[in-house]
Amino acid sequence: MENRPPPAKRFKSAPLPGGPRRSPDPERNTEQQRRRQLPISRARGKLISQLWKLETAILIGETGSGKTTQIPQYLYEAGIGRQGIIAITQPRRMAAISLATRVAEEKKSELGKLIGYTVRFEDVTSDGSKIKFLTDGMLLREAIRDPLLRRYTVVILDEAHERTVHTDVLFGIVKAAQRKRKELNTLPLKVIVMSATMDVDLFSRYFNGAPVLYLEGRQHSIQIFYTKKSQSDYLHASLVSVFQIHQEAPPSHSILVFLTGQEEIESMSRTCREIAKHLPQGCARMTVFPLYASLPQPQQLRVFQLGQKDCRKVILSTNIAETSVTIPGIKYVVDTGMVKAKRYTPENGLEVLAVQHVSKAQAWQRAGRAGREQAGICYRLYTEGEFEKFLNMTVPEIQRCNLASVMLHLLALRIPDILNFDFISKPSPDAVRAAIQQLELLGAVEHKESQIILTPMGKKMAAFPLEPRFSKTLLLSPAFHCTEEVLTVVSLLSVDSVLYNPHVKQDEVHSMRKKFISSEGDHITLLNIYQAFKNVGGHKEWCRENFVNSRNMTMVSQVRSQLREICAKFGVRLESSRSDIDNVRRCLAQALFLNAAELQPDGSYATLDTRQHVAIHPSSVLFHCKPSYVLYNELLHTSKCYMRDLCVVDADWLYEAAPEYFDRKLKGVKR
Ligand code: CDP
Ligand code: MG
Repeated sequence: MENRPPPAKRFKSAPLPGGPRRSPDPERNTEQQRRRQLPISRARGKLISQLWKLETAILIGETGSGKTTQIPQYLYEAGIGRQGIIAITQPRRMAAISLATRVAEEKKSELGKLIGYTVRFEDVTSDGSKIKFLTDGMLLREAIRDPLLRRYTVVILDEAHERTVHTDVLFGIVKAAQRKRKELNTLPLKVIVMSATMDVDLFSRYFNGAPVLYLEGRQHSIQIFYTKKSQSDYLHASLVSVFQIHQEAPPSHSILVFLTGQEEIESMSRTCREIAKHLPQGCARMTVFPLYASLPQPQQLRVFQLGQKDCRKVILSTNIAETSVTIPGIKYVVDTGMVKAKRYTPENGLEVLAVQHVSKAQAWQRAGRAGREQAGICYRLYTEGEFEKFLNMTVPEIQRCNLASVMLHLLALRIPDILNFDFISKPSPDAVRAAIQQLELLGAVEHKESQIILTPMGKKMAAFPLEPRFSKTLLLSPAFHCTEEVLTVVSLLSVDSVLYNPHVKQDEVHSMRKKFISSEGDHITLLNIYQAFKNVGGHKEWCRENFVNSRNMTMVSQVRSQLREICAKFGVRLESSRSDIDNVRRCLAQALFLNAAELQPDGSYATLDTRQHVAIHPSSVLFHCKPSYVLYNELLHTSKCYMRDLCVVDADWLYEAAPEYFDRKLKGVKR
């Protein structure tokens, strides 16, 4: 370890080492030996003595060097922060869970005892937990209860380069907690910011000139190859690369391909399997694993199993495998350079998911997945010139998302002046204004003596781990006597999709699903599916037959009961509207009116808020219908701007929800 910047292009064309560094014999590789072989282990002593002294440190070291799994253990072993808990935040659930599992294994401790994790709606910790992995969103929620984070002695903000909206807010909260605890002369809070690729100057400046510690060396080298010519079709290019590698490399070398989304990944999986079937004799077999967030967890975890002998493992993944995780056997990474990400324009209030280029930091992270266990190779399906044009760092999410949730959160944290919150990167004033306006429309905030304050409704809304529009729906539901149904709908929209759509069985899926389909849209269809699931007592067999993801469905039940508890705490009447579905739709219209669209004379749709042209997504049960007014859950931009998850509503209901707003906005909806 030393205090100097790393060379600019760290992994580029590094020579391959002479041979594998780790013994192939697992018997000889005890956990402790393995830990000692990690690059970080050489710096252990120095690191510990630095971390004892420093209040805040920025730690940068290449991916695979051992930061995430080792630093918490070093701190614990050295007795740093023993009076409280060491928290390590992760931007993603899958990473938090798999890392906690790994560290518990290394420490030979049962998961949930000394080492645990907390992710939304799932808490695997106990009173004795000293090392806790959590998603940054979860630590943020804890800060509402205790802004000083007094349970924690160390907070490690990991994967800082990802800059999710939660991490960015958390930077400010943790920084303030540290300062206040110092002023109060209580137990100090140590802050460690870690990443493999980050703008260290920005972070150091933000944390009052905190020193930057550079970890030397990576575990294994990675060769990078660019295409000579620009590729117009990245899907075709990745297919060609996969089969070229397949024909040349030994079958034990697994391939990880980065694509953008579920549909693309499922269709590419089919193509790969089809081609693999018809390869000439002598070619190794191939197993293809899709990997994306809404895939059932057992299937996600299959990628972590070792491959079969003489069979190539090919993993087609979204960016969920980009940081933090180690997938065994990966030798090749194929990077399309594309990602599906959120984009927000405050002028027209549109938050859309769109396919776009990754940043350089993301490309380096992707390449890093090839060198976790052995020397690796990364094929970039773009030219070096194109790479140079990628943004250095991913634009922080806070600068490209709807901020209503963040602003509500900051108010709940009793931040005195939210318009001037100490953000590491400031969101645009337009976006902040738009967010405050939305919260006003939802009745969550009001202006009082030139200050923005939470209303009693806003206070309740902030207590739910949900987007403001959904907590509002729940809180309004007693007026429509349908809290039980709204709890179900909101829970269904809060977890990954419960619908499992294997492409090979599309006809079968279609005929099984018919009985649930409601002409009133996807929300009600989902509600029907949930009710049928409950009627059969949550049977796994039923789920399989009906192409329902049983784990996600179980998750929906758990989420639902947690939300129900919060409702009960606030004295929300828990009534069921039984078969009166109109009440449910009316209630949705009352709270979700900002996400509404209107049928146009030419058969297309326009959002009511900004007259943006949109279309019904093919996955919706309303795809072939033309209702006059719909609510949508989100917008997705691919070839067109699509609305996903729709509910049919009446114009009158929308108008009643916010008459003044619609008077201002509308020509179409008139009473
Ligand atoms: O955080 P950083 O990228 O520096 O590394 P890490 O997550 O602490 O992982 C260090 C090494 O542990 C990886 O390179 C893998 O060799 C190994 N590891 C693993 O085999 N399985 C895991 N689930 C996590 C880490
Ligand atoms: Mg890490």
